Amino acid sequence: MSRVAIFPGSFDPMTMAHLDVARRAASLFDRLIVGVLHNPKKSPLFPIERRVELIRASVADLGEHVAVEAFDGLTVEFARRQGAGFLVRGLRAISDFEAELQMAHTNRRLERSVDTVFLMTALEYGFVSSTLAKEVAQFGGDVSAMVPEPVARALAERFRESR
Ligand code: PNS
Repeated sequence: MSRVAIFPGSFDPMTMAHLDVARRAASLFDRLIVGVLHNPKKSPLFPIERRVELIRASVADLGEHVAVEAFDGLTVEFARRQGAGFLVRGLRAISDFEAELQMAHTNRRLERSVDTVFLMTALEYGFVSSTLAKEVAQFGGDVSAMVPEPVARALAERFRESR
């Protein structure tokens, strides 16, 4: 039986912590779909198409069994449509745990056949978040250790435009 997993998130934008989780999940599952949430109620820095594009460029070397797709609505519905039995989430620190536990229980209540698998983000990326990367880039700081190369370029471009 082929094991399909969804790695869901906002990815506004993808960070090295996300990429680390995607890379390790790619070696655990037969197929990994990075699911990028399109939430019309939020105003992200990067529109959904750009977020998908940047993730595709960042995961290009992970293999053909890794795909990137936008979705809206419930993550478990997306998982069902994709034939996925697993959700993958990264834990950077204990502070992530509470919200993740709540989400995992909610998703399991919504769809019993979908289980959440947690990967501990590599220690060197434990401090990284999309929010901080955006803040550092906004003020012209070096984000090369925080985000994949295509994202670093996109951030620099995006904030050059608004200066
Ligand atoms: O990158 P994020 O913002 O931490 O990702 C959160 C995400 C997208 C995984 C979560 O908000 C989500 O699954 N949203 C879709 C709506 C949903 O399914 N809600 C119920 C489960 S908590």
